[in-house]
Amino acid sequence: MNTHPFKVAIALFGATGDLSSRKLLPSMFHLFQEGSLKDNFVIIAVGRRDLSDEDFRRTAEESISANRKLKSLDGLETFLQHVFYVKLDIADSNTYKILNDRFESLEAQFDTGRNRLFYLAMPPQYFTVITDNLRESGVTDTTGFKRLIIEKPFGKDYDSALALNNRIAKTFDEHEIYRIDHYLGKEMVQNIEVIRFSNSMFEPLWNNHYISNIQITSSESLGVLDRGEYYEKSGAVRDMFQNHLLQIVSLLGMEPPISLNSDDIRDEKIKVLKSLRRLDEKDVKNHFVRGQYDEGLVDGEAVPKYRNEENVASDSNTPTFIASRLFIDNFRWAGVPFYVRTGKRMKEKETKIVVEFKEVPKNLYYQDEEDDVLAKNLLVIRIQPDESITLHLNVKDYAGEKDTKEIKLSYTVAKQDLDRTVDAYENLIYDCLNGDPTNFTHQEELMNAWAFVDPVNKAWENAPASFPNYQSGSSGPVKSTLLLSRDGFKWWDV
Ligand code: BG6
Repeated sequence: MNTHPFKVAIALFGATGDLSSRKLLPSMFHLFQEGSLKDNFVIIAVGRRDLSDEDFRRTAEESISANRKLKSLDGLETFLQHVFYVKLDIADSNTYKILNDRFESLEAQFDTGRNRLFYLAMPPQYFTVITDNLRESGVTDTTGFKRLIIEKPFGKDYDSALALNNRIAKTFDEHEIYRIDHYLGKEMVQNIEVIRFSNSMFEPLWNNHYISNIQITSSESLGVLDRGEYYEKSGAVRDMFQNHLLQIVSLLGMEPPISLNSDDIRDEKIKVLKSLRRLDEKDVKNHFVRGQYDEGLVDGEAVPKYRNEENVASDSNTPTFIASRLFIDNFRWAGVPFYVRTGKRMKEKETKIVVEFKEVPKNLYYQDEEDDVLAKNLLVIRIQPDESITLHLNVKDYAGEKDTKEIKLSYTVAKQDLDRTVDAYENLIYDCLNGDPTNFTHQEELMNAWAFVDPVNKAWENAPASFPNYQSGSSGPVKSTLLLSRDGFKWWDV
């Protein structure tokens, strides 16, 4: 991938946690296999437990070996020789000196250019304690670069996100902060911009003259698993909608940037988020649908309702589903609804975008028939599980039974391309090491996204819900179908 391997020491907080073992360590190992990390890097795993370097290496070895996306484990032992462990009480500023000493001795040994990356794979309540302590104990005083990667949630609303940003800003400048939204690491999400701006045929049509509506669906068949405690406070709005889905909206809605420079792209995305029509209680009531899963069958297996999941209140009002109608109030998009939905325990795992084009100005076909109509022109971008782009068109029906028939022009990303990386995280860690913040959430994107969703959470937190209201294994509450049918549309099951 990279002909110049990065020089860096990475402090991985939460190194014994689930994210590190499932995604981060395998991704870092693959970056090593690909040559982006080579001789001049170290990973300092930071944790509470009393482990030796060797103990942690064996844990890391297990996690990495269990990763099914890695094609080989070649080089694993050498990689592990760059991995070290530091026991730290994150609340105790005195113990940070041990971390600093370890940085210094390893930096000398591995010649890492004194570049320090701090990856906080930790619950958010620890973010500011850690950044404060890193600063106060001098760990962030380095002559190389210092960068911070943090995981969502970045606050729970506008005010808390602002407070979090302000506090972290005491230690890291905005250009040093990499807020992960792992959807931005997905190849097909990155492809939205390429499809739009590298083809002359889409841009002229990409507006309210030719597009009737845009639908974004991100459904999951899994429930909340063991994350009940987190999810109770978060719900579908904070967990998926405020971040991943609004990011997709902004990529679909943005104006062509003047260059692919990170600032230029972000400026355009921010404008979209700023143009989202602000909501009042009535809008939320009329154009947002919330849901919570009941028991049901998913892939033939009986699953419990949300309220019976571990660490979930038996009368919980937390939404596990949201469907919404949004408007981007600008010249390009005025009047075009964006329908956005996401939910857990739905019938399948898929993330897709459907762009529905308007009908031809005059339909010359099917003058005499009542039932047949022209198929709608659709552009379907499938983000996962398979990655493809499909264009639905009408052509002559050679059998002559009908005036036209619908065909689908399709491109599916080849398996070897899909296997190029272990995970979206690999792309993002690479970008951060490369100093490229394009696929991370900028503070202004974050604040505008919160400003937009706060009224939704407020309206729903204040009004009791009739939950559960959709069966596990279904497409969500009936009301989400009405959301579109009222406007003369339907969710495309394509
Ligand atoms: C995470 C959410 O951000 O995204 C999870 O916290 C969700 O609840 C996950 O399951 C979905 O990600 P993906 O990549 O599996 O679509």
